Amino acid sequence: MANLEVNVAGVAFKNPVIPASGAYGFGREYECLYPLETLGGISCKGMTLNKKDGNPPPRIAETPSGMLNSVGLQNPGIDYFIEHELPYLRTKDITVIANVAGSTVEDCMEIARKLEATDVDMLELNISCPNVKQGGAAFGTSCENAAAVTAAVRKMTTKPLMVKLSPNVTSITDIAKAVETEGADAVSLINTLLGMRIDIKTRRPILKQNVGGLSGPAVFPIAVRMVWQVANAVNIPVVGMGGISTGEDAIEMMMAGASAVQVGAAIFTDPFAPVKIIEGINRFCDDNHIANVSDIVKSVQPW
Ligand code: FUM
Repeated sequence: MANLEVNVAGVAFKNPVIPASGAYGFGREYECLYPLETLGGISCKGMTLNKKDGNPPPRIAETPSGMLNSVGLQNPGIDYFIEHELPYLRTKDITVIANVAGSTVEDCMEIARKLEATDVDMLELNISCPNVKQGGAAFGTSCENAAAVTAAVRKMTTKPLMVKLSPNVTSITDIAKAVETEGADAVSLINTLLGMRIDIKTRRPILKQNVGGLSGPAVFPIAVRMVWQVANAVNIPVVGMGGISTGEDAIEMMMAGASAVQVGAAIFTDPFAPVKIIEGINRFCDDNHIANVSDIVKSVQPW
């Protein structure tokens, strides 16, 4: 059996597979299926300062090889997370990432301040949610805004800080470099691509918000390309996500430059997807005589 341990900015994960923020809640619904300890870690649903109900339905639409969502950061608020969800997760031997999704720079700073007093392992600053009017992608689609919110949150935390990037930009490498300069310890990418579906009978968009974020296998090649570009542009670790649904996908993403991977949409069609992906990585390593999975990171040999 290969050694599947990986390290991202000093944070240890027992294997490289992490359910992505928004795709796994806080893990509770899954522990009846398999021990959460099977996973490398968990990235919790993006948290705002106060509870948020999210956008009105319909907020999910199926697409060829994927899905659109416009959930709108529904979450119980940071205090509830710290009082109820984090203590539960701390009963499990699992690396916990808190996703910070404040609507303003000040909110993000306050969320980071509150998390600083906890034993959460890592912060993932969400500057890429396409489904909210304030915060999210409004932070992550300009270098200036991405740099400003990263610098502000950096001041509030000594914890490893990962910044989650939007693909809805002209140059994701410029955004990655901007957050690296302001003290990000790692970047995660990609969040969803902005998309739209229309019901041709009613001539109405399927989503009540008209547009939403596309995820699933349809976006995988875009994610691989962006992870590869960013991994070659910055000197901090990259966590790759976007359409990963098999162990082979995870290996490909790691070869592109990802030190670990997050799995999102695949969990909605198969709640066992993260476990199957870990098994697939293991099988690939065994079949190819790879002793340490971290040896494959950024091992692609471009033409
Ligand atoms: O709408 C949402 O809750 C999505 C969040 C995200 O993409 O970060």
